[in-house]
Amino acid sequence: MNHAELHKIAKAMVAPGKGILAADESTSTIKKRFDGIKVESTEETRRGYRELLFTTPAMAEHISGVILYDETLRQSTKAGVRFADALAALGVIPGIKVDAGTKPLPGFPGELVTEGLDGLGKRLAEYHSLGARFAKWRAVIDIGAGIPTCTCIESNAELLARYAGLCQEAGIVPIVEPEVLMDGAHSIDRCEEVTADVLEAVFDRLNAHRIYLEGIVLKPNMVISGQKAPHRATPEQVAEATVRVLNRHVPAAVAGIAFLSGGQSETEATLHLDLMNKKPNLPWPLTFSYGRALQQSALNAWSGDAAKIAAGQAVFKKRAHLNGLASLGKYAPALETA
Ligand code: 13P
Repeated sequence: MNHAELHKIAKAMVAPGKGILAADESTSTIKKRFDGIKVESTEETRRGYRELLFTTPAMAEHISGVILYDETLRQSTKAGVRFADALAALGVIPGIKVDAGTKPLPGFPGELVTEGLDGLGKRLAEYHSLGARFAKWRAVIDIGAGIPTCTCIESNAELLARYAGLCQEAGIVPIVEPEVLMDGAHSIDRCEEVTADVLEAVFDRLNAHRIYLEGIVLKPNMVISGQKAPHRATPEQVAEATVRVLNRHVPAAVAGIAFLSGGQSETEATLHLDLMNKKPNLPWPLTFSYGRALQQSALNAWSGDAAKIAAGQAVFKKRAHLNGLASLGKYAPALETA
């Protein structure tokens, strides 16, 4: 295992002013996004939309890496350049989602476990040969009456650690993503409690599996009120609680932290990241690895219309730029309309 190379890639993923574009929606998830703009999801429309994103002029100023889906890693631009090569030529690191999605955890109603370890070593070797230099595995923890259970948290943490070990063995930086969902009516305090337990379990297993922490990127949720909570915490409270829980439970050795957006609006996700980065003495770079919060307006602007590719790119570029500023603590809401 080449620690120096893993560390170099992980640091490049969280380079100052840059973050990650999560464009690894599975075929069923991208269909839902396309349904929202009344575009049929076909191999060609998916390819065309990803080409729009990946050929956005000067994207590399704010985007360090892109998480791809298996199908996308094998696709090419209209001009016939494989997406992975086109991104690498821009200085953007290609990554790949390698989990096989979530399944109900038997015996634990309402809880999920992520699948995808079988044959993963072999798949990672192929992904490396296709140009991927980092990977993603998402574990999902829901908050509700009587959940999450310890069994669900521990099972998912163990799988994340097994995945991370296989990645590092293959020369691929693992994005370790334990997502505590923001669905539901729970308070920010409950989210903080569960996020603390989850991070504690994840780092316990990562250490037990001898994962090289300087060669991972953590992709956590922010500590935030449930979407249906009667009282939503303020942006400052979100920033405060998120930094507190990370300081308590994430070793300083971790190369960097890149948040998921998880259903926050685009502007909320940017503001929260900025407020965290305005705090002093953070031990790791804090940046973004957003899916919806980078793409929603771009999808709407494009709407499947070939004449609106540049419009979609302009909106995507703006969100990438503002999130890049937020990763430096240099964003201000007034810039949204500037
Ligand atoms: P969202 O930012 O839309 O939550 O997606 C990020 C991601 O990659 C989830 O796995």
